[in-house]
Parts: sequence; structure tokens; C-alpha cells
Amino acid sequence: MARITGRTVLIVGASSGIGAEVARRLARDGNRLVITARRGPELASVAQEVRAAGSACLDLAADALDPRAAADVVSAAVAEYGGVDIALLNAGQGPDMSMDRVSVADVARIMALNYDVVVNYLVPLIERMGSQADGGLIAHTNSLAGLMGIPRQGPYSAAKAAARTLIDTARVELAPRGIRFTSIHPGFVATERIDGDGLPKPFQISQERAARHVVRALEREPAQAYFPWPTAALVRTLRTLPTPLSALVLRTLASRTRRPLGSRGTPGTPS
Ligand SMILES: NC(=O)c1ccc[n+]([C@@H]2O[C@H](COP(=O)([O-])OP(=O)(O)OC[C@H]3O[C@@H](n4cnc5c(N)ncnc54)[C@H](OP(=O)(O)O)[C@@H]3O)[C@@H](O)[C@H]2O)c1
Repeated sequence: MARITGRTVLIVGASSGIGAEVARRLARDGNRLVITARRGPELASVAQEVRAAGSACLDLAADALDPRAAADVVSAAVAEYGGVDIALLNAGQGPDMSMDRVSVADVARIMALNYDVVVNYLVPLIERMGSQADGGLIAHTNSLAGLMGIPRQGPYSAAKAAARTLIDTARVELAPRGIRFTSIHPGFVATERIDGDGLPKPFQISQERAARHVVRALEREPAQAYFPWPTAALVRTLRTLPTPLSALVLRTLASRTRRPLGSRGTPGTPS
């Protein structure tokens, strides 16, 4: 396992939560960070912490839903630091959303917020890393919810599953060109934005602990990383059970915290 030091690392979705915490951790080891998200002031404050910890940092406010903006961020990183060694595609949101309450537009929006944001960076990064002598690592913050259809998280589960499949294909195709891919699957993480969203969160961990797991995955570069182990074990076990049995367990877990009747969830809340 090689410690990450002296590398150019792009983090998409670094203004808060797991991404901001990963930036803070990597800042201690003399890296060059390029951090991006939509909220400029929050991003600038993370950038300040990174520089204070001794790493160079370029902060660029950009919407990952805009393919042109994403390509511009990759170009700006290359112009500033000469290339991108590691990219962590971390932008995403998973609101509480039951299938009997969603609109078609809700589902499409969650797909964009968790899948399009990945594609918009994946393509220019593959193009760039394909021309670098030592390729590069592209990591994606997926979710354990991407491994199976989780109640009240259906559109989010589906979007994360799609991203995982796309990245699985890219890994196979692009290994000969030195581009590596890691899908990182956290369980529930206590970030500010999901605080109080009403979803049950068994085995929830802190964002600091989640960031430690993410950095370890960036160092070790497994194809898939899963944490924390109790949630990962639960999901993996559920996947092996007969469907009626796993459905029963999932329904029981989901019903532990009920929304007020008539509530449509809180679209926009990440998980
Ligand atoms: N928290 C959990 O329980 C959990 C569990 C499993 C997986 N995850 C995944 O972990 C990742 C990070 O989530 P988090 O929990 O740390 O939540 P968070 O604090 O909301 O972080 C999400 C980050 O993505 C950025 N972002 C969202 N949409 C964007 C867009 N269109 N363009 C650019 N940046 C965008 C946000 O910044 P701006 O709003 O400033 O753009 C923010 O920096 C997500 O992919 C999430 O699905 C979270």
C-alpha cells in the first residue's frame, strides 16, 4: 500500500461531507489538490484548510451536471499541475423517496444527480489519463445502496448501480492503458446534509471514519471497497437470500422510521 503523497488529486464534490474530509486528510501529505463542487464559499473554506495543512489547492466552483463545466475543470487541473494522478468522483445525493410517491421527473433527476455527474467527469478523465505515461486512478463514491434495491432509496440505488456497471466495464477495457478504477461503497455516514432526513441508518459511521476508508481505498486501489463491515456483511447476506426473505428483512428495516403520512420525502437530501 503506497501512501498518497506528491500527487495531483481531483475531488469532485469536496465542499462538504466525505469529499471535504478526504481533501483535509490528503492535504497533510503534501499533495496538489483540485477540489470542485457548486457552492463556492464552502469550497473556498475547504481550500483554505488544505493550503494551511501544506498542500497546494485549486478550488473551482462548477456544476457536475454540466458536461462542458466538468471538462473545463479537468483542463484547468492539467493546466495548473500538468496532469491528474487520482480523481475521486464523489458528487451524489440520495433523498428519501418511495416508489408510490415519486414522479417520473424525480427519478430522472436522481439519475442525473448520481449517474450523469459521474459520466461528465469519467469521459474527459479517461481521455486525459490515457495520454499520461502512468495512466491514473479514477475512484467513485458509490454506495452499499447500489448493490441492491433499497426501500425508500430506489432511484438512488438504481443510479448508483448504473454507475458501478459503467465503471466495471471501463476497468476491463482500460487496464491495458494504465487507467485503474475503484468503486467505493460506504454504508450510512453521518454527514450534515442527511442529518434528520428520517431514514433509518443502521451501523452509521462518522464522516471522518468514512474518509479514512476512502483514502485507504485510494491507496490500495481495490476494484470494489465496502465499509463499514457490519452493513457490508448485511447487504452481502441479503443478496444471497431468497427474494421473499430479503424483501421481508428490507421491509422491516425500512419501516423502523416512518415519514408522516402524505409526506413526499425530501428530494435533494444526500446520502
Ligand atoms: N452520507 C451517506 O450516508 C452516504 C452513504 C453512501 C454513499 N454516499 C455518497 O457519498 C458521496 C458524498 O456524499 P456526502 O454524504 O458526503 O454528502 P454531501 O456532504 O452532500 O456531499 C456531496 C458533495 O457533492 C457535491 N455535489 C452535489 N451535486 C453536485 C453537482 N451537481 N455538481 C458538483 N458538485 C456536486 C456537494 O457540493 P455542492 O452542493 O456545493 O455542489 C458536496 O460537496 C455521495 O456520492 C453520496 O451518494 C453517502
